[in-house]
Amino acid sequence: MQVYVIGLGHIGLPMACFIAISGKQVIGIDNNPQVIKAVKNGSINIYEHYNGLHISKLAKKLIDQGKLTVTKNLRTIDQHPGVFIVSVGIKSSDDFKQDISPIKEVMDTLVPQLKPGDLIIFRTTLIPGTIDEHVIPRLESLNIPVYLAYCPETMAETQAFQELNNNPIVMAGKDEESFAKAKEFFNSISDAPIHKASNIKTAELIKVVQNISRDVEIALVNEISVVAEALKVDTYEVLNLSNTHPRVKLLQPGPGVGGYCLPNALVYLKHTLLKGKNTDIPLSLMEVARKSNLDRPKKIVALIEQALKDVNKTLEKSCIAILGLAMKDNCADCRYSPAIDIAKMLTEKGAKVKGFDPVVGKKFPFQVDTLQECIVNSDCILITAVQPGI
Ligand SMILES: NC(=O)c1ccc[n+]([C@@H]2O[C@H](COP(=O)([O-])OP(=O)(O)OC[C@H]3O[C@@H](n4cnc5c(N)ncnc54)[C@H](O)[C@@H]3O)[C@@H](O)[C@H]2O)c1
Repeated sequence: MQVYVIGLGHIGLPMACFIAISGKQVIGIDNNPQVIKAVKNGSINIYEHYNGLHISKLAKKLIDQGKLTVTKNLRTIDQHPGVFIVSVGIKSSDDFKQDISPIKEVMDTLVPQLKPGDLIIFRTTLIPGTIDEHVIPRLESLNIPVYLAYCPETMAETQAFQELNNNPIVMAGKDEESFAKAKEFFNSISDAPIHKASNIKTAELIKVVQNISRDVEIALVNEISVVAEALKVDTYEVLNLSNTHPRVKLLQPGPGVGGYCLPNALVYLKHTLLKGKNTDIPLSLMEVARKSNLDRPKKIVALIEQALKDVNKTLEKSCIAILGLAMKDNCADCRYSPAIDIAKMLTEKGAKVKGFDPVVGKKFPFQVDTLQECIVNSDCILITAVQPGI
């Protein structure tokens, strides 16, 4: 069985490798030639390992062994039904404007290649209703029997291989046959339990709800940390002992919320509600949590300013070392990273900023190459993400 993985990013590349390791022939497609070049020459900057091997080396090894092929153009290679896994997301701008065109482009290239019996699985985060609106009509216009399923991806970067194998999968099919085909496929490559959702829109919503749930939980714990500090009690003692309650699961406070998924989740939900003309549904709790998380870097900057003031220093005359530039621990992804927002704000306020992250490739002008270089002569050290080597 030929498997095609469309989109070789943080999710698609580990997925392609994982499926190839399971013994299936995989063709990975990415319309960005730089991505294809980086996969081929082993210089992908994703922090993922399989049995100690970095994903760059793993992908190259699988390519050399003939188990994985990567290419810019999707072209089906045989007449037997294949499996097409789409791991391309909706494009999101700095101000969270959503652009659905990548999904439409995938359909534009995929639809002419399809043949009876092909199975398409969207493993991506979508605005609920996207598949019904943009995918199913295109497939129906083809007038040939193809199977379609949707399952959100829940793996955390750095845990890809373990979580692809074990994380429960919520999945829905266009129809019963589609669900059965997709289930059979996943059962053939992983041990992950599969939970059936009654339709695709429900499964799309489940992923958005999971992301919003994390967003709200993070806002809550950050607020608790401010309360604990004001009351001069140890935040971590409060959290750890609160969590001894069997039904309380507070997270850890941090510098804010980054990455592609969580900051976009509420925007996705609002799009769906708007589309269904549900304009009067109250989302106040989610809105407050989102705003609180967006404002968190500003609060961290204020904390730094105050801490410097306490020792008779000013931001303008200080050097701040930021350790960890990625959006969270053990990860190379800097999309919407709070550390980057903090660095920008500090620079705008006149501080000198140096940032170090051993996992993130050189991307920012304030980035330095070593931990030593970062912290030497600094007036304040801010740890925003814990990485190997920090
Ligand atoms: N990164 C995560 O931890 C994570 C976790 C869970 C879910 N997701 C979801 O998975 C999806 C993918 O996320 P990601 O982080 O891998 O994104 P990404 O940006 O890292 O990767 C997407 C890849 O798709 C490629 N692409 C775009 N349009 C294409 C097209 N028409 N044809 C072929 N390739 C195309 C891009 O060049 C890019 O390499 C998103 O919906 C995201 O919300 C991500």
